[in-house]
Amino acid sequence: MASRYLRALALLSLAAAQEPNITRCTSGAANITTGKAFHVQVCNLFGATCYINHPYIQDCATESLEILSGECKLYPIFEYVDKWVRSGASAVEELSTQNDLGCTEFISDGKAQLSGACAAVQCSLGGGAWAGPGMTGNSPPTRETGVTNTATAAWTNFSIVEISDDAKQLKNVFLYRTGDYVATTRRTYTWSTGGVTLSTGKLPTSNGNNYGALACLV
Ligand SMILES: *[C@@H]1O[C@H](CO)[C@@H](O)[C@H](O)[C@H]1NC(C)=O
Ligand SMILES: *[C@@H]1O[C@H](CO)[C@@H](O)[C@H](O)[C@H]1NC(C)=O
Ligand SMILES: *[C@@H]1O[C@H](CO)[C@@H](O)[C@H](O)[C@H]1NC(C)=O
Repeated sequence: MASRYLRALALLSLAAAQEPNITRCTSGAANITTGKAFHVQVCNLFGATCYINHPYIQDCATESLEILSGECKLYPIFEYVDKWVRSGASAVEELSTQNDLGCTEFISDGKAQLSGACAAVQCSLGGGAWAGPGMTGNSPPTRETGVTNTATAAWTNFSIVEISDDAKQLKNVFLYRTGDYVATTRRTYTWSTGGVTLSTGKLPTSNGNNYGALACLV
């Protein structure tokens, strides 16, 4: 009886939707730009050290960006010709542009294809604990506004974040703290197919028009 019950439980947990393998770094490099990609500036207003990385990087030490509290750093958006192959000898990088803002996702055969503006983000909560992306409320896609007590608020957490098209003009995104989460302003997607599920929240951006430098005419 008991063993049948345990087996049923095991089957249930096997059937539960799994995230694709996401690399969440808690270490990183001070600079990951190669000078070749479209970049956004990521400003850390969280109040502690944060790390931001593409979910499929292989090496946190060299491919994840460390941003100390109060710093802004350039984060490159790396795109690949074959969206399934982002590392190894057969990975071919292509030049990214502002049109690569926005996290595009496609899940097939248990694997997710994630574009360059999809990211994992981790900020230190101290004592070895890390905040991941989340928002107030439990009825996505929108967050609950007017929350006065984060300790009693309801929360929705996300697997990854999107550096959205809203960053097109001023090219800034912000890491700030809400409760024990890295703040996201809304859910952009939840993909769930073939036992793989992935939820995505949108990082806050600055709004407005870029009336700065003239467009580069090549
Ligand atoms: C995640 O990684 C493990 C270990 O490398 C592998 O067995 C598994 O198939 C991977 N899952 C996905 C969804 O890629
Ligand atoms: C980051 O590294 C790139 C490539 O080596 C270099 O061109 C750039 O000046 C560095 N940026 C900073 C802020 O050190
Ligand atoms: C979201 O929260 C649930 C419940 O606490 C947890 O099991 C899950 O691992 C979290 N997901 C992420 C992506 O942090």
